[in-house]
Amino acid sequence: MDYLPLGNTGLYVSRLCFGAMTFAEPEQKYMAWLGNEGQESADQMIGTALEAGINFFDTANIYANGASEQMLGKALAKKRDDVIIATKLYHPSGAGANSMGTSRVAIMREVEGSLERLGTDRIDLYQVHSWDTTTPIEETLRALDDCVRQGKVRYIGLSNFAAWQIAHADGVARLHGTERFCSVQAYYSLVGRELEREILPATKHLGLGTMIFSPLAAGFLSGKYTDTEDTGDTVGRRSRFSFPPVDPAAGDEVVRVLREIGDTHGVSPSQVAICWLLHQDGVTTVIVGARKHDQLVDNLSAIDLELSDDELNRLNEVSQQRPEYPQWMPSLERAGDPAAAIKHSAKVAIS
Ligand SMILES: NC(=O)c1ccc[n+]([C@@H]2O[C@H](COP(=O)([O-])OP(=O)(O)OC[C@H]3O[C@@H](n4cnc5c(N)ncnc54)[C@H](OP(=O)(O)O)[C@@H]3O)[C@@H](O)[C@H]2O)c1
Repeated sequence: MDYLPLGNTGLYVSRLCFGAMTFAEPEQKYMAWLGNEGQESADQMIGTALEAGINFFDTANIYANGASEQMLGKALAKKRDDVIIATKLYHPSGAGANSMGTSRVAIMREVEGSLERLGTDRIDLYQVHSWDTTTPIEETLRALDDCVRQGKVRYIGLSNFAAWQIAHADGVARLHGTERFCSVQAYYSLVGRELEREILPATKHLGLGTMIFSPLAAGFLSGKYTDTEDTGDTVGRRSRFSFPPVDPAAGDEVVRVLREIGDTHGVSPSQVAICWLLHQDGVTTVIVGARKHDQLVDNLSAIDLELSDDELNRLNEVSQQRPEYPQWMPSLERAGDPAAAIKHSAKVAIS
């Protein structure tokens, strides 16, 4: 397993992160379609992840109504000092008007709840799950800063922000001298490359770490939904893929190439899809999701897979997205542009 610093911090995280969104008890009905295999299965999966060298674990207060945090905390109890635990807040934890969001009230309440459920005295990475349209970002940052100063939280991160919101939040934190977000958790896969347009350029420019979620587009890229013997209920199965949304025709093409490349290496389409993400510039860690132990074992092997430049190019081509304005505007920096050549030589002379 390789490890990279999370953005501009000194914290090293494994290139694969373990996602605990599937953890729930068998009797739990809330979001049970994601998984509810119970504590024994969670312990087994965490044991396997640790053996593979994973030191980074992601959950959220909302997953299985808090049960995911509880089960993850239990499974990691004996290894607490060796691991980085990330959790999140934003979504409703109750019914009241202040039960959701990232106000000072919500943050101070939710941090205590997560600490208790995780059975720990600190959260290594506390992430805002979504941009709060009604709370000023100054209030959110000040409250998170207080959590860091109280020792309850070590680092702060964000998720599901637009690029302008990421840049704005970072600017506000610098202006007021509060803790800065160090990481962005966002969706990125071979059937969803929107991140490349604005968010990855922003994270690279600001020096933020990136944690990629739903690397298989919720299982679509495993190929099991396009298996010829498995197409009986294609519409029903595909209706699941509204989160993240998948264009079925384009997606089938991607899966075809994943399968071909996987076959030449004797590995699954899932491994190829995760390996492609690990090769993308600006990706710090890929959060692997698994409902069952054998899926986890399969996904973890992506770390050992080596793809050739030709194979990576094939995957890039089959998943190419249409450029959006202003990306299709000719760049001053393009080769042969006399103005760019003058600017470039001036920069070289100055440095
Ligand atoms: N910040 C956010 O808003 C956000 C959103 C989503 C997820 N996340 C984080 O990202 C993590 C991963 O997300 P995700 O669960 O959507 O990841 P994913 O890898 O795209 O999908 C995981 C699901 O795909 C199926 N699967 C996984 N590996 C497989 C394999 N090798 N072969 C066949 N099927 C396989 C399983 O579902 P089935 O068995 O049911 O098919 C599994 O639960 C989560 O645990 C969470 O920590 C964050």
